[in-house]
Amino acid sequence: MYIKQFFEPKSCTYSYLLMCEESKEALIIDPVQCDLDKYINEIKSINAHLKYICETHIHADHITASYLLKTLTQAKSIVHKNTEAKCAEIFITDGDQFYLGEISIHALATPGHTNACTSYYVKGYVFTGDTLLINGCGRTDFQEGCAEQLYESVYNKLFTLPDDTIVYPAHDYKGKLSSNIGYEKKNNSRLALHIKKDQFIQIMNHLDLRYPSQIDQALPANKLCGKTP
Ligand SMILES: [Fe+2]
Repeated sequence: MYIKQFFEPKSCTYSYLLMCEESKEALIIDPVQCDLDKYINEIKSINAHLKYICETHIHADHITASYLLKTLTQAKSIVHKNTEAKCAEIFITDGDQFYLGEISIHALATPGHTNACTSYYVKGYVFTGDTLLINGCGRTDFQEGCAEQLYESVYNKLFTLPDDTIVYPAHDYKGKLSSNIGYEKKNNSRLALHIKKDQFIQIMNHLDLRYPSQIDQALPANKLCGKTP
């Protein structure tokens, strides 16, 4: 399987283009509107047929490129059924599967950062969105976030994957590209196995984070798949 990671520096977002090398069917995870040209150039250069646009959640820190990609390709957008993005074509829930050629992609509902967060598992890789970051996790103080739910998503879903599963998150703010489940179980400063649920909830309830600067533009746009005036 072909995987290309893209980095958008303003929101420190990672997006991922995946392609089945036999069928040339491809999907993109969490594309960012301002990087549209990069994705289109890459899709053309590898001769891919973009089939799906997968959102791990409705983002508050950037506008998705989903709407523009849909106007330029045949791709259908995929979101969890609990989102308010009624513009999507496919609404998924935990355990759903879809395919690029023979390669299956499994949707894992991992709520907590938002109530509709989904991770995508593909052959030894998991794309965790903001549920599990490298040595961290997404905040839980807006978009129906819930620290207890996030802890349970990580422990009951992500940490049950094999330790060598590569973790590809939606963000990293320190330049790290990927991690793996075994490393995060041992070393994640919020979620490592020695940290109990109560401690985690305490940590999350005292983060004292700033109101996200893009949220008032990003959320309404992303509920329309990133359609902007
Ligand atoms: Fe997020």
